[in-house]
Amino acid sequence: MLHYMKFLRLLSVFALAILCSCKKDSSADADGSSGSEKNPGKLTVGFSQIGAESAWRTAETQSVQDEAKKRGVDLRFSDAQQKQENQIKALRTFLAQGVDAIILAPVVENGWEPVLKEIKRANIPVILVDRGIKVSDESLYTTLIASDFVQEGRLAGEWLAKKLNGKGNIVELQGTPGAAPAIDRKKGFGEAIVKNPGLKIIKSQTGDFTRSKGKEVMEAFLKAEGKNINAVYAHNDDMALGAIQAIEEAGLKSGTDVIVVSIDGVKGAFEAMVAGKLNCTVECNPLLGPAAFDAIEAVKAGRPVPKKTIVKDEVFEQSVAKDVIGSRKY
Ligand code: AHR
Repeated sequence: MLHYMKFLRLLSVFALAILCSCKKDSSADADGSSGSEKNPGKLTVGFSQIGAESAWRTAETQSVQDEAKKRGVDLRFSDAQQKQENQIKALRTFLAQGVDAIILAPVVENGWEPVLKEIKRANIPVILVDRGIKVSDESLYTTLIASDFVQEGRLAGEWLAKKLNGKGNIVELQGTPGAAPAIDRKKGFGEAIVKNPGLKIIKSQTGDFTRSKGKEVMEAFLKAEGKNINAVYAHNDDMALGAIQAIEEAGLKSGTDVIVVSIDGVKGAFEAMVAGKLNCTVECNPLLGPAAFDAIEAVKAGRPVPKKTIVKDEVFEQSVAKDVIGSRKY
């Protein structure tokens, strides 16, 4: 009897261990759309996504997943929780699975060469979506489909310079350090406001593209500068929405006492504009699924694809928000 009890206990420990290891392995296809076995009749694509840090990111994930479903693609999805090491791990898993193509939204610009070299050796095309990378050999990826982040920053800067009549103190909420949109949006904004000597960036810090961090950093800015702050420039809408919360909690009127401009054009930003709390958003289109799969199909059919496809973006001011909010797709 004693032996039998011991045997049962051992059996449950084993079962638990097997369960845990399965859970870990499924990270490369976390949407549950497929297992690691390749389906010979289907195109198999690995998608290494940064995370779910913003509404924009969730919309991009949805766009890729919807398009995969529409085209009957076996999509292996991996959420890296904003860590490059997790993305590299996912890429190696896709490589081991022998996927037909990889879609990569890279969290940062640098550090991709070794893993991309391994993937290139296996002849797997890599489609970069949304963010670019820095590599010495551009043949390490097939194509990049993205917005012009420098231009987005420039548009936000030009809009704000006009709104403030070329004079005022700005605080900046930057995106993830080392990420292409954080670097480029800072650059573009700087280029636009430098023409106005009366405009100053008095504080600038990362809010990691998240609403909670945006709020936290804005609270610190308000504590240090208070009513000295005339405007907020946030590298994405989620951080702006967090900052708006901090402004209101500090007893100030967002959109009036403090002007707020950001980038993305997500539904929440339009709602904040309708409520008069956000002044302007520069669109950055996340619906990249169709273009990504068009590129994969072209490569697989032996057709040439451009090295870079720039997605067109628009500026939306508070005054038009009410009229366009209904037609927003994300
Ligand atoms: O790379 C695009 C940026 O990343 C979006 O502006 C932001 O919301 C996201 O997290």
